Amino acid sequence: MSKVHQLRGSLVEARRELRTRGVEVDSDSRFNLDSDDGFKFIPRPAGSGSNYVEPPTPAPSPIASFHVLDSWISRFDIDGESVGGQVDLSTDERITWLMDAIGGVKGNRILELGPLEGAHTKMLCEAGASSVIAIEGSRASWLHCLVVKEIFELSQARFLYGDFNHYVDQYQGPPFDAVLACAVLYHQLDPVSLISGLSRLTNTVLVWTSLADDGFPKPAMEVEVSGYRGRKMNYHEDRNLIQNYCGGVDQEAVWLYHDELLRCFADNGLSRIESKPIERPDWGGAPHILFAASR
Ligand SMILES: C[S@@+](CC[C@H](N)C(=O)[O-])C[C@H]1O[C@@H](n2cnc3c(N)ncnc32)[C@H](O)[C@@H]1O
Repeated sequence: MSKVHQLRGSLVEARRELRTRGVEVDSDSRFNLDSDDGFKFIPRPAGSGSNYVEPPTPAPSPIASFHVLDSWISRFDIDGESVGGQVDLSTDERITWLMDAIGGVKGNRILELGPLEGAHTKMLCEAGASSVIAIEGSRASWLHCLVVKEIFELSQARFLYGDFNHYVDQYQGPPFDAVLACAVLYHQLDPVSLISGLSRLTNTVLVWTSLADDGFPKPAMEVEVSGYRGRKMNYHEDRNLIQNYCGGVDQEAVWLYHDELLRCFADNGLSRIESKPIERPDWGGAPHILFAASR
């Protein structure tokens, strides 16, 4: 995923820089953020005058199902063929580390926030989770998840479409054994309320997130959310210009500083932290951290 962040980060930076120099980036197709056509259903042109020819329907197969949708971000191995996007998330070492940190997920009920295309969901199911409820807020990504569920027969997984903040707020059911929050906290307008909500429905939260520091996010806009300090990130440009944007459901988000993030988990009773050291990518990206927080 960091490759995706890196590429997107440099494109957005370059556009900002060009704009400050007075270059009309928005009206010039050379500076488009995404040359991909993006996810879309192409309606069959109506009318007898059309010379459109419907492509032949293939024999049913997992690969045929996969290619019903295009613009995949994740790469998958299907029947010995490697297909999809650039990022292999179904062997993601972050998820392996997080599962190991809690002694595995065999028999566990998991809530997954923002599954993207279901690659991590697949890992959780294959590691023996008894059920995974995965909530995805991008329509395109949710449909990709459904295809992945069908192809890999992830019968324990259920993919819900919508904003997971509402789900967490309103949840009344039995506790989850763990919540996976990988690359989602720094896309939320109010990560503090989300963490507090999560602490009511589980004793264990598995996190990978970007962190605020002196250089991130840019431009610096210090904020305080319910007593926790961070910086505001504006995703407006990404969200509205990138086809298949796979960040969050809000235009802005708050990134918490490292200590503030852990203080927030601790204040909500999740004070046992097993963490990897903070990483600072050598390509100049934001610092990030991987940890399991439990009660
Ligand atoms: C940066 S991607 C991370 C995807 C995946 N978890 C991973 O680590 O590779 C963030 C994902 O979370 C989803 N997302 C972010 N905020 C959300 C929200 N409030 N409700 C539902 N989905 C959300 C996005 O649509 C996207 O699929």
